Amino acid sequence: MLRTHTCGELRVKDVGKKVVLCGWVQRRRDLGHLTFIDMRDRYGITQLAFSTDINPELLNEARLIHREYVIQVSGIVRERESKNPHIPTGDIEIVVDNMKVLNPSITPPFTIEDQTDGGEEIRMKYRYLDLRRNPLKNNLILRHQLALETRKYLDALGFLEIETPFLIKSTPEGARDFVVPSRIHKGEFYALPQSPQTFKQILMVAGYDRYFQIVRCFRDEDLRADRQPEFTQIDCEMSFVEQEDILQTFEGLIKHLFKAIKNIDLPSFQRMSYEDAMNYYGTDKPDLRFDLKFVHFTSILKNKGFQVFDKADIIAGIVLKNQASVSRKQIDEWTEFVKDPKIGANGLIYIKYNHDNSIKSSIDKYFTEEQLKEVLNVANAQRGDVLLIIAGEKIKTLKALGQLRLHLAKQLNLIPENSYACLWVLDFPLFEYDEEEQRWVSVHHPFTSPIGDLSGDVANIKANAYDMVINGTEVGGGSIRIHDKQVQKKVFELLGFTEEEASKQFGFLMNAFEYGAPPHGGIAFGFDRLTAIMCGTDSIRDVIAFPKNNAGKDMMIDAPSAINQKQLEELGILIHQN
Ligand code: AMO
Repeated sequence: MLRTHTCGELRVKDVGKKVVLCGWVQRRRDLGHLTFIDMRDRYGITQLAFSTDINPELLNEARLIHREYVIQVSGIVRERESKNPHIPTGDIEIVVDNMKVLNPSITPPFTIEDQTDGGEEIRMKYRYLDLRRNPLKNNLILRHQLALETRKYLDALGFLEIETPFLIKSTPEGARDFVVPSRIHKGEFYALPQSPQTFKQILMVAGYDRYFQIVRCFRDEDLRADRQPEFTQIDCEMSFVEQEDILQTFEGLIKHLFKAIKNIDLPSFQRMSYEDAMNYYGTDKPDLRFDLKFVHFTSILKNKGFQVFDKADIIAGIVLKNQASVSRKQIDEWTEFVKDPKIGANGLIYIKYNHDNSIKSSIDKYFTEEQLKEVLNVANAQRGDVLLIIAGEKIKTLKALGQLRLHLAKQLNLIPENSYACLWVLDFPLFEYDEEEQRWVSVHHPFTSPIGDLSGDVANIKANAYDMVINGTEVGGGSIRIHDKQVQKKVFELLGFTEEEASKQFGFLMNAFEYGAPPHGGIAFGFDRLTAIMCGTDSIRDVIAFPKNNAGKDMMIDAPSAINQKQLEELGILIHQN
């Protein structure tokens, strides 16, 4: 080894020891006849001391060392005169008697400090420098621990980690596939898996009744802070189970991870139907770290002569505690927020319940004080509160109010720090109507089992599916699968597949199901999202060593990029240039 210790290791108990350390230069301070260098490695920072008293030549050499040089030093551990209580090695320093520059560095394009001056693009380009910083390093360490603890928990329950292929045929997750051209079979393509969904179901047919995999998935979809084109799932499947078994097993996994990594004992997860999530929070992934639950007024406010309400399918609102004195300007800002085309509400109505018992409202003209008092009463509003109401078409209104709810919580600091609100969302619809394709599509995927039978109105059929939501992020989702051929056939029919199409796309799975498919179900967690929540960051880019930027590019290696003509010819791909 080129070193005897790491830069995070030495303490007062080591004083007097002769040590050799290697690392990167974080900073250098020259003070008259003294020079200090902070040397960093993955484990921490150790102060190096050079002085004229000990070795004037070495001091001069030290003064030629710059940021990010890789050096090796030997010396004696000494107790510091002025200690640094902020770092674990802050009580000691190394009195250097020998130093070797292992490799110089050119000046880095941004400072490698916890708070850096580098913008995101430049940090992505020089990701190896960014990864030297503590915030990213700590995230990757936590990610490693999460993977380890996941394996421990699932292994103890008898789950086997089994790898499934990356070069496959389209999976039915509903995003676009990334495809890989075949050289041997010109004109044919593999697809990269959007998830191992079909393989894990086939593993159940094969009798491996508890499977998991921490696995990369690929989806060609628009990127956001919580979406990457390649991301990692904790993918799981079990045989001979019902929904409750899956919920218990995987609530247990998340509780185990929070306990092992953060020493937090999570309470039992709430459960909420999709319908309630939409009606009371305007989203299928409610953030329950704060309240602001919707109150519904349709029955008491509709058909009272105010056109906006009379035309609306739904009238619902949010009570803001102690905000009756909010300014007109602020209400205007909220109104603009909900009217933004991305949100799509027509407007925002307010009713202020003032401390002096008076009421001030934007609908004073249309409703008596008595009627408004009744509204406030239904909402359980107290003096000093303000009620914000949106009315209109059902889903649009609920979603707009849901967005407003999040906006208000952030703006008014209603989200407690370091708190975790976990819940299961249940009873999703099995199908939703796709306006673009003009047909019904699966909300989850076509192998999701219905609750009950498939007769009656398609829109009302519920799925035996579940999502896990933490702090308003969908961290996982799964379902009990169909294992009955007739039910599967009917689902394909309702999705508008001909028998031929279904057989072409999923024939291998349907065939496997002919050979004794057990009842089974599973779930997949977004491992990056889970890690991001535990790390307290909003973007999954912060928990992935080499992520793509928000245009889907890897800035460091410059991918995607063109390939040469010879490769294209070998693959039988013609690029038409206009
Ligand atoms: P689903 O499509 O819901 O289910 O994906 C499971 C979880 O993966 C995460 N996720 C993503 N994370 C980062 N970037 C993305 N682009 C991305 N897309 C999804 C989410 C999501 O909850 N095969 C089914 C699971 C099953 O039925 O067992 C599936 O893939 O956290």
